[in-house]
Amino acid sequence: MGKRRLAVLISGRGSNMEALARAAQAPDYPAGIVLVASSKAGAAGLETAATLGLPTAVIPARDHPTRDSFDAALTAALESCGTEAIALAGFMRILTPGFIRRWQGRIVNIHPSLLPKYPGLDTHARALEAGDAQGGCTVHIVTETLDDGPILAQTAVPIRAHDTAETLAARVLEAEHRLYPQALAAFLATLP
Ligand code: GAR
Repeated sequence: MGKRRLAVLISGRGSNMEALARAAQAPDYPAGIVLVASSKAGAAGLETAATLGLPTAVIPARDHPTRDSFDAALTAALESCGTEAIALAGFMRILTPGFIRRWQGRIVNIHPSLLPKYPGLDTHARALEAGDAQGGCTVHIVTETLDDGPILAQTAVPIRAHDTAETLAARVLEAEHRLYPQALAAFLATLP
């Protein structure tokens, strides 16, 4: 089977998008990136994507008064480039149930905690506050419940004595960059 047509959704720095893009440059990687779409006009990841020669689109949240309107514009952009699967990579918007149904079983996300621990925001601060011995990241299928779909893969990293949320986030981010391309490739192999 040829490369799956993958869209990557970002809202900021885009380092996970870059990790996916670099993996996808390999001829035997099972996806090619057909679109990097951002919900924020100034997202740094847009510049990275352009530098990597990837098509980009901005769907500014502020232009859309409702979530339905935003998600309809996003779906139109995704459909126009023949998207088959979607990777959320630091995409900081909650998608509507209608959007998730449209792309049922074809959206994956990376989350910076060992789900089901710490869905939502401030995951590293919460792990430190709880006195956890480990932090980590999870790649999962996106369902209508936030940070809750079937888990595809996880990596744990140690929490060290003098960690702050920032030092832990940096250690987890390195693990994310290794985990996401691998987990996505395995997931794509299961798609009809
Ligand atoms: C990553 O740590 C990712 O796991 C997290 O945002 C960061 C984005 O970094 N995602 C979430 O918190 C989603 N709820 P990046 O833009 O450099 O990939």
